[in-house]
Amino acid sequence: MLVTIIYNLFFHPLRNIPGPLLHRASMIPWSIQILRGTQMFETQKMHDHYGPVVRLAPNHVAFTDSRAWKGIYGTLVDHKSGMTEVPKSLAFVQALDDTVTQIVNSGPEEHALTRRALANGFSASSLRQQEHILVRHTSHLLTLLHSNCQDGLAPINAERWYNYLTFDITGDLIFGETFGCLSGSSYRPWIALLVRAMQFSTSMTVLALLSLRWLPRLAARAAGLFGANPLGPMAAYNDALVRRRMGLPPGRPDLFEGLVRRQKELGFSQDKMCANAFILILGGSETTATTLAGATYKLLTHPEVYARLKTEVRGAFASVDEITVTSVNGLTYMMAVLNESLRMYPPIASNLVREVPRGGVEVAGRFMPGGTLVEVQPWSIHHSKENWHEPWAFRPERWLRDGGGDPAFKDDNLESMQAFSTGPRNCIGRNLAYAMMRLALARLVYDFDITLADDSDGWFEKQRSYLLWDRAELNVYFKPVRKP
Ligand code: HEM
Repeated sequence: MLVTIIYNLFFHPLRNIPGPLLHRASMIPWSIQILRGTQMFETQKMHDHYGPVVRLAPNHVAFTDSRAWKGIYGTLVDHKSGMTEVPKSLAFVQALDDTVTQIVNSGPEEHALTRRALANGFSASSLRQQEHILVRHTSHLLTLLHSNCQDGLAPINAERWYNYLTFDITGDLIFGETFGCLSGSSYRPWIALLVRAMQFSTSMTVLALLSLRWLPRLAARAAGLFGANPLGPMAAYNDALVRRRMGLPPGRPDLFEGLVRRQKELGFSQDKMCANAFILILGGSETTATTLAGATYKLLTHPEVYARLKTEVRGAFASVDEITVTSVNGLTYMMAVLNESLRMYPPIASNLVREVPRGGVEVAGRFMPGGTLVEVQPWSIHHSKENWHEPWAFRPERWLRDGGGDPAFKDDNLESMQAFSTGPRNCIGRNLAYAMMRLALARLVYDFDITLADDSDGWFEKQRSYLLWDRAELNVYFKPVRKP
């Protein structure tokens, strides 16, 4: 133990990278932070103190230099290892080594095939064909808010309703059926297990990093025996949904059709189809609901921003029927609000960890030896003073470079905000996400004056993140400004 600590501090190839003494010496402090869901807050503070490159653990380095996005997540050209990308760290995406692979944790070959099969479902023309699904569920949300809001007197937990909306939309876009969250005003059991599943996966990651690869598998089995492994029941429910989806007539313009059509050609088992469906649901719903909740909170605590947004949205449409996926593209201030919300409250705040291949790579001007874990944490880079003027201020004006902006923010490095990540494994659902969020936010702002309930003051600070945010309740009052 002592020998390892001495090695880590004085002889390790990363010994010159700054960081707190305990973090440079041992994995333990970082492991405790990640288990507590506070890791990315601590990392951001370390960047503030030590600068754009920080050693989080003996073998683990984080960057806030925006060149690191390309260095870590871009394509590798002519690398001596023969690799075309800095691969994802398996401890983070596949802690249980018998997990079936899917688009997020597969190697380059399977990833490219899966991505290609899915691409058409995410194209602009598919999005146009899917528009009625987005509109239908968003209208459903609005109707329910109108009937539940008691003219702005009853507090409503907005983050939960946003999640009902995004789960119902993604369910419909993937399985061809909704989860019925909006109609039932509740989560289905599968969804209720999600955050627990994320916490569980985080523990497995730490076990995988700290020890031999067999330990997480053993721990998962033991947890299963005592009913404490949420992944088991989730898998069974997911399997039933996928089987029903596979039985639908061919040619649906949805997100899953590409995989269904090519299943045989790709040789994908039922388990692999399920694993991919699960990722699509998770990727599409939690993230967009988080951003809508973050934007709502920020708007309600920044009245001047909210007032400007209301003026834009209510001035742009003569009736609610004019609010469509295409027409909301003209709302430039709303886009700035969403981008500022993604900056301040990135749904995936950290854990995009890659492992440097044999031969090493250069990241933001620094050589990282093979085997090093490297990452850019969105939470840190989105709040770094090197990239942003007043990084903790919610100022959508910083995104308005073509007029209506504020010159104080002219040097902001907008490219350093990459909530959807970059490179060949960036978010395939980015355009769909913007469409869902713009439509929902425009409809909400058009129909309601929204105010924050007292018990949701300080909402941001109450939360922790286990890959996804463990969101606190966001209670607000929706007061209608027009009849539904
Ligand atoms: C605000 C909304 C969203 C944010 C911030 C977001 C963010 C991200 C990020 C950071 C990644 C990279 C993950 C990694 O490297 O491990 C990613 C990947 C992915 N996202 Fe999203 N996402 C959003 C919405 C969506 C939507 C609506 C869908 C579709 C249903 C979706 C589906 C996916 C998929 C399938 C991947 C894996 C892509 C690949 O590996 O090639 N996401 N997303």
